[in-house]
Amino acid sequence: MQASAWTYTREEGGLAVLVLDVPERSANTLSSLVLTQLAEQMDRIEQDRPAGLLIRSGKRSGFIAGADIKEFTTLGSEREALVMVRRGQVLCDRLAALPCPTVALIHGFALGGGLELALACRYRVGVDDGRLALGLPEVQLGIHPGFGGTVRSVQLLGVRPALDLMLTGKTLRAERALALGLIDRLAPPQEAETVARALLRAAPAPHRPVLLERMLSLPGIRGLLAPALLRQLAKRARKDHYPAPYAIVDLWVRYGARGRIAYEQEAASISRLFLTSTARNLVRVFQLQDKLKALGARDAAAPGAQEAFRRVHVIGAGVMGGDIAAWCALRGLEVTLQDRGLEQIEPALRRAAELIEKRIRVPAERAAALARLRADVEGRGVADADVVIEAIFEDLQAKHALFAKVEPQLKAGALLATNTSSLTLESIATVLAVPERLVGLHFFNPVAQMPLVEVIHAGQTSPAATAAALSFARKLDRLPLPCRSAPGFLVNRVLAPYLLEALIALEQGIAPELIDQAAQDFGMPMGPVELADVVGLDVCKHVGDIVGALSGRAPPLPLTRIEERIAQRKLGRKTGEGFYVWKDGKPQRHSVDWASVPGDLQDRLILALVNECVAVLREGLVTEADLVDAGLIFGAGFAPFRGGPLAWAQQTGNALIVARLQGLAQTQGARFTPDPGWAQRG
Ligand code: NAI
Repeated sequence: MQASAWTYTREEGGLAVLVLDVPERSANTLSSLVLTQLAEQMDRIEQDRPAGLLIRSGKRSGFIAGADIKEFTTLGSEREALVMVRRGQVLCDRLAALPCPTVALIHGFALGGGLELALACRYRVGVDDGRLALGLPEVQLGIHPGFGGTVRSVQLLGVRPALDLMLTGKTLRAERALALGLIDRLAPPQEAETVARALLRAAPAPHRPVLLERMLSLPGIRGLLAPALLRQLAKRARKDHYPAPYAIVDLWVRYGARGRIAYEQEAASISRLFLTSTARNLVRVFQLQDKLKALGARDAAAPGAQEAFRRVHVIGAGVMGGDIAAWCALRGLEVTLQDRGLEQIEPALRRAAELIEKRIRVPAERAAALARLRADVEGRGVADADVVIEAIFEDLQAKHALFAKVEPQLKAGALLATNTSSLTLESIATVLAVPERLVGLHFFNPVAQMPLVEVIHAGQTSPAATAAALSFARKLDRLPLPCRSAPGFLVNRVLAPYLLEALIALEQGIAPELIDQAAQDFGMPMGPVELADVVGLDVCKHVGDIVGALSGRAPPLPLTRIEERIAQRKLGRKTGEGFYVWKDGKPQRHSVDWASVPGDLQDRLILALVNECVAVLREGLVTEADLVDAGLIFGAGFAPFRGGPLAWAQQTGNALIVARLQGLAQTQGARFTPDPGWAQRG
């Protein structure tokens, strides 16, 4: 028999301690097995009748990370899902029904089902070690809490804080959790257990929300609040794309987080959600994220390789280099930032200060992060750097001149990286004595918000350099995507035909508002015309020309509209006007006749992109379909609930997509000819 993940100890004096320490895992999760074992412990505790029960984790990492997400993918029917959810619910009910006081002693994270278990305790004590993070992030997986959390969170915190916690899925830090009553006490690590025991002995009245929050749950008021809540939701996500947040509001409006029925309906609702394609795909997104993370860890050149990166030297303090340097300093690295003069570096230092101010709360840590980033016009940092990142103008000659100067100064074993977005590594490497150590680290703009980094390798790049670059990206807490050097790499290459199709549609006289809406209706976070304006029309054209020349898919008509705007320096958001006029960072849209949208417009945009995904896979830019999907989701925001472009095609039916492409090739032109790679996609 497998050893239980739970250890129950009855102490002298009547208190008991239940410790969760799931074997062979760095973090505790509530798998079916762990829940079955908890049921056995509950039998025992109910008989043993301790005077008080303290529950804590035996892991260093935290309390409980949530349910075991892998098990979600095995659920074959609503009925099966219901059985799983009810089991967790019943256990939490039994915990809540114990006659003795109960306390969850929480350090690090308590997320999802882990927090729900803690919510079933009478009290919660947080360990104040700077790492406390409590949340109900289920909505990010297309579901909602299912172990009684939709009911108990409202009962404990009140309507608005609880709905906010569930609808945003964001985690709360220590002070906020204390202020809301999610934890009853916050204590330093060495005192926390004593504080928890004292709570059990004193057994004060449990926390209740303020009167106003309790009144909001009255039936009449619920009905009044519902429309406003739904309006707010509609601004963020469509119900057919993301049903879970709507289900959370619906449960509360109907049952008011009261009584047995509220729990029963929670279970019924989450069981339905589990089977939706949205939940399946969002679980897939979560797993893709883990897959990319693992590439950085597993492929690390040597154990502890991430620790080897301490000093970074960034050359070029513009949009990208400045923000890359700031991000490196934020992540604990010593950074020197070089540009042609101090006046080019100063704006980057100011932006870095803003970022660090926003992201780091503790004043001493903030000061340390700021001190880690230094201007270095002379480039003295090169000789000491473990990694040198070039982010100067996108000009091959300029890059050649720079690399020729920098390479002889590098210390042995240093990684040399370029952030180029459209030049190949091969073309840059011609001036290098040791081309094996050149990699691409292609960050996306804005650096602090975009999780993906394409890690580019060419034929000459050594496997050790690629492994080190993957590991470096992880050190920066980015998702590394290994990709072969080729024009546009993965993400820009695939976006190019999508943006091109939008430009063709504009030339055909279709309004930008209609084009963007067609893409957003599919689930893209931003339409292609708006995206072109955000990226900059000059940059778009530059990348488009390079990628277009490669693919040989010339547009069927001259693209006069973008040319005109570039000639007039209307380059998009950065100049205040592109295809849209921009005010306060937002495109000004005109009212248009929504009914006039051509029936094939959405297909034209999305299938242009999907067809190119098949092409890059066939060409071997990345090694597997999952990496294409991950790249497009994390690098371009491709509708996460669709699971990625190739997963979407598969779910829709590859044969059907090919037929639709063939149709478009007839009506719109040969650019839609299905890529030969479809033949391998089954
Ligand atoms: P930028 O024009 O904002 O900044 C370039 C900086 O490099 C300027 O501050 C310039 O003074 C400096 N510089 C030029 N020559 C130099 C030299 N020899 N020594 C030191 N500093 C020098 O350019 P941006 O947009 O930051 O692009 C930089 C690189 O990143 C390019 O290769 C670009 O393709 C790539 N990239 C750009 C993205 C974007 O969205 N802007 C996205 C991903 C990559």
